[in-house]
Amino acid sequence: MIPAAGLGTRFLPATKAMPKEMLPVVDKPAIQYVVEEATAAGIDDVLIIIGRNKNNLSNHFDSVPELESTLERKGDHSKLAKVQHSSDLADIHFVRQGEPKGLGHAVLRARAHVGDHPFAVLLGDDLIDERDPLLTTMLEEHTKRGAAIVALMEVDPDSIHLYGAAAVEATDSDGVVKVTGLVEKPAKEDAPSNLAIIGRYVLSPSVFEILERTEPGKGGEIQLTDALQEMAADPDGPGVYGVVFRGRRYDTGDRVDYIKAIVQLAADREDLGPELRPWFKEFAAKL
Ligand code: G1P
Repeated sequence: MIPAAGLGTRFLPATKAMPKEMLPVVDKPAIQYVVEEATAAGIDDVLIIIGRNKNNLSNHFDSVPELESTLERKGDHSKLAKVQHSSDLADIHFVRQGEPKGLGHAVLRARAHVGDHPFAVLLGDDLIDERDPLLTTMLEEHTKRGAAIVALMEVDPDSIHLYGAAAVEATDSDGVVKVTGLVEKPAKEDAPSNLAIIGRYVLSPSVFEILERTEPGKGGEIQLTDALQEMAADPDGPGVYGVVFRGRRYDTGDRVDYIKAIVQLAADREDLGPELRPWFKEFAAKL
């Protein structure tokens, strides 16, 4: 499931009539990277939790017969393939969140769709480089341990207040830790570590029962982190484990990070990089 019901206020006015998940990162909406990441890990059923301006999102993942036939007539097969790719990616469903009451509340909206199966939650503000697979490892760990799995990444201690922070213990698998506690967006001095939850989770449907009774937490919102903290603290349950990610992650959550993500991804692209890289150097030299 991909929550996409936030108000995107940091990007106003661009997000006045468009969800922030539709903002282009180079030439693809941010949410398409996330759906592609899910399908690359073998997930072919995607539920997007939507808020206002849902039409942009559902149109993007639908076919566009007029555009497709025009491109077909012109023989522009490469553009046609790009148009068709997003509608062929996965079986995509939409549910409305109603009032945006937090990530935990958004996850709860997936309950009926998820049924009895484990599921992944992918947040659109974090883009994971396709060359550094993370979700596949998380799915394997979930199968192996039956536990909730979160993606963790070391961040600058000055930034930990922007994330869920984890207290952890080592396990005998390299890059996998046992999560002993979680705090949503702690002050630097209260953070149990500088290991931040980045927006990837693999969960069992048992999380829904906990979310049902999770009281609003940080920011007055129902926090997924608080439900996971309850799981981590339960000595009789399967617990929570973290996969520590050391690969390339692009944050698109605020304007500066969003611009950095576009610059990094464009510079790496085969079709754009050769022209852009020398220009970036020239530009940087003038700063
Ligand atoms: C959410 C989660 C937080 C997590 C973050 C990752 O916060 O609540 O625990 O660290 O995503 O991006 P948000 O950034 O949506 O406020």
